[in-house]
Amino acid sequence: MLMHQLLATNPYMSTGLNTGLLQVPWPRTRVPSHHMRELARGKFLVKSEDITLLDSIGEGEFGVVYKARLGLSKRVVAVKTLKGEFVQVEVDKFVEESLKMSRFKHAHVMGLIGVCLDAGSAPYIIMPYMANGSLLKYLKRERNNIVVLDETDEDELGEVRKRLMVICSQIASGMEYLAANKYVHRDLAARNCMIDAHFVIKITDFGLSEDVFERNYFRQDSSSGESGEAAHQVDVSREPQ
Ligand SMILES: Nc1ncnc2c1ncn2[C@@H]1O[C@H](COP(=O)(O)OP(=O)(O)O)[C@@H](O)[C@H]1O
Ligand SMILES: [Mg+2]
Repeated sequence: MLMHQLLATNPYMSTGLNTGLLQVPWPRTRVPSHHMRELARGKFLVKSEDITLLDSIGEGEFGVVYKARLGLSKRVVAVKTLKGEFVQVEVDKFVEESLKMSRFKHAHVMGLIGVCLDAGSAPYIIMPYMANGSLLKYLKRERNNIVVLDETDEDELGEVRKRLMVICSQIASGMEYLAANKYVHRDLAARNCMIDAHFVIKITDFGLSEDVFERNYFRQDSSSGESGEAAHQVDVSREPQ
């Protein structure tokens, strides 16, 4: 990995450089052992030497996203990491976001390819690369083709409606899957829906999402006395019926 890529993602590294302390040992991401076990069990752990970051392709409130190449196959992927300065609790939340993604298996919900924990103090979340960017960008770019005006002819109107219906139905089916698995996204927006090269849309950004099942369970817990392990059996590997 190149030095400028490390600098872009690791605040400790820049401190080291500014003060001439290049010998400072590399700060590793600290991850609770049960999260580590779950990631390892699902074979989601990826070594930093297998990732080559390319351009930065997006930024949200918390994260920065890069186009990257993965492993020997050099498969193009997207890598999301934390931006700016962050504290351990934000790192923990970020790892939890990756764990949620690792459980999702649906065509219209962003799944997880892997997580890299040895690139620095923030994890890298590796996911499918969505070549057509966010739905927000698409809607802005295609504004002239999707706005229906008085003078729009009938054929064009039909095409516009078809395109919008495809977008809506893909997002609705992703949301149905999340709801069936008791997840509330809490930040559904065009900027958090991504479009791949074949115009498949995936809902992404689970930073604010909540597992309602887990929350209900914790609420029930005081009265029912159920055990945590047994009650938290959310089978998200199943497609909704
Ligand atoms: N898989 C992806 N492929 C291509 N670009 C992406 C991908 N995921 C996110 N992006 C880009 O990065 C931006 C921020 O990603 P997001 O997950 O929403 O981060 P945040 O949690 O900071 O809001 C998106 O709006 C989009 O432009
Ligand atoms: Mg976002």
